[in-house]
Amino acid sequence: MQKLTVVKMCMVGREQPPYPLVKRLARGSSSYVWTAVHEAFLIFAPWSNSMRIDILSAVPRLLDSWFSESILQRAQQKGLAEVKVHDLRVWSTDKHRRLDDYPFGGGAGMVMTIDPIHRAITELRSQRQYNEVIYLSPDGEMLGQSLANQLSTKGNLILLCGHYKGVDERVREHLITREVSIGDYVLSGGELAAAVLSDAVIRLLPGVLGDETSALSDSFQDGLVAPPDYTRPADYQGWKVPDILLSGHQANIDAWRHQQALDRTRQRRPDLLDSTDSDPQTTFN
Ligand code: 6GU
Repeated sequence: MQKLTVVKMCMVGREQPPYPLVKRLARGSSSYVWTAVHEAFLIFAPWSNSMRIDILSAVPRLLDSWFSESILQRAQQKGLAEVKVHDLRVWSTDKHRRLDDYPFGGGAGMVMTIDPIHRAITELRSQRQYNEVIYLSPDGEMLGQSLANQLSTKGNLILLCGHYKGVDERVREHLITREVSIGDYVLSGGELAAAVLSDAVIRLLPGVLGDETSALSDSFQDGLVAPPDYTRPADYQGWKVPDILLSGHQANIDAWRHQQALDRTRQRRPDLLDSTDSDPQTTFN
């Protein structure tokens, strides 16, 4: 049930997929047939789930290796996600390609200027539609599992990484739709936060993880931390795996796991049990 909800939600708001052949076949048929064909393609065509993330950064090299490894690379190879990291300096008209300037009113630190950011966002927006333009900032909305779930249902995202003291306030007022933080501490730039956010979102896209249910059994997905996992050997130098996991009785195993998750949450993250976010029904809101 939950699995279905996620699959469905991941299809909401996607850019229309390019299916000219099907369009031709369906031309002239009733809207009912057309809708059915459209639905079928949304479900079966791999590119229908493709999410595009454009990251704007003053230090793009910081992110290159992150997106060319592991699950994120496989997601891109499978056509489920496309991540492009852009060097903001490309849009700088300054002869030294500078991106920052002194703050009006004085004070320490430099401020990122609006012009290269405006040019970059305008150019990207002329190429495709974006559902969100997110500025990564320590004073933004806190990234949690429910925000990651929400963002995984969006088609295309622009992530703007701040540097120095931050960006000219007019960027925040006029060019972005949302601000996100990854925790109550200050990083020297938004790149790590953009990588964290992209990872949290991309791994939720249907097909990215081998078994789609595995994202659902993650810690936090049901408002609980995950129960413990064990693998072979069943007895490692006298350190044994709990008997129940070897019993073969799936209903008992499921009940044990749920109890472990509850106990661990109570011990480690009691705040999750208090928060409304811990209600499985509200996790996707
Ligand atoms: Cl999004 N940016 C920076 N610079 N620091 C942070 C952050 C973001 N989230 C937590 N700390």
